[in-house]
Amino acid sequence: MIVLGIETSCDDTGVALYDASRGLRAHQLSSQVEIHAEYGGVVPELASRDHIRKALPLVIRVLEDAGIRPADLAGVAYTAGPGLIGALLVGAALGRSLAYAWGVPAIGVHHMEGHLLSPMLEPDPPAFPFTALLVSGGHTLLADVRGIGDYRILGESLDDAAGEAFDKTAKLLGLGYPGGPAISRLAETGHPGRFTFPRPMLDRPGLDFSFSGLKTAVSLAIDTARDEQTRADIARAFEEAVVDTLVAKCRRALQQTGHDQLVVAGGVSANRRLRDRLDRLSDELRVRMYFPRPEFCTDNGAMIAYAGYRRLRAGESEALGFAARPRWAIADLTEPGVTPARSGT
Ligand code: KG4
Ligand code: ZN
Repeated sequence: MIVLGIETSCDDTGVALYDASRGLRAHQLSSQVEIHAEYGGVVPELASRDHIRKALPLVIRVLEDAGIRPADLAGVAYTAGPGLIGALLVGAALGRSLAYAWGVPAIGVHHMEGHLLSPMLEPDPPAFPFTALLVSGGHTLLADVRGIGDYRILGESLDDAAGEAFDKTAKLLGLGYPGGPAISRLAETGHPGRFTFPRPMLDRPGLDFSFSGLKTAVSLAIDTARDEQTRADIARAFEEAVVDTLVAKCRRALQQTGHDQLVVAGGVSANRRLRDRLDRLSDELRVRMYFPRPEFCTDNGAMIAYAGYRRLRAGESEALGFAARPRWAIADLTEPGVTPARSGT
């Protein structure tokens, strides 16, 4: 069973082929970072236009790379949401049309389900049930994951997502977009302890997050930052505050669920300091950690092909309409096959 996956929810065009018996067969990614860099963030209209230019050539490219013909495919998965509506519509219309032309089922995948299942593309994958930390540009949440589509949200951000906090802080520090990797690089030369920023909501019980107050504290410190070393010190203190908060909430979540596996995915899971700290937590609690490989932490087609494969394999398929949902809560997902046609906007 081979599934084509198409991801166009934001600023990366990702296309991949997942093969049930041989694993990932091909994947391609076209980044739009250069297009959006001069604006300091993603410009939705420019994102849609670039997906239109890139998506179909990348589909043809992965089929050629893997030596696979459309007749060999069992289905086409595309990201149905959440994300930028124009960008989503490009991948959804393309994926649905290709599936129709090739006479195979199409499936609209939830972007965060793609991230959540991405560590399953690695050798020695996690097994259900597990606790998951999803940290991306749009979401920060902890979930008790019992199976495909069986997600109980344990806590989430009440305001900014962790990735969004990195991006906004990077902007305040005059760094480019995306902010996460830029802050991490600058933080490496920062001295620990010169600044201390709040660890939001750590003093309260519960598993929710809040990152907007942290951003305000950083902006006050930046007002006094005249030299490069001070900016690096601020970046370091900011990264430590975010990582500390995420790690502390993972500890609480694991204590609450009693699971012995923690899956960490989404763009911020590429963060080195976060990975190191979670590895230490894993040793301490005797819990196994699962991360996607760094290139699959951020958006990619492989995770969409894989999540689509899992749902198609379970018998789910979609009516001829297609779904593009800019807002779509992961908690609203159901187990495969329960609601077979998830169409509409
Ligand atoms: O998962 P993703 O590619 O897109 C969304 O679904 O949002 O995540 C992108 C986010 C951005 O906010 C970016 O700054 C952040 O992930 N990010 C990082 C790192 N790499 C990407 N944040 C911290 N450290 C990183 N190394
Ligand atoms: Zn993402």
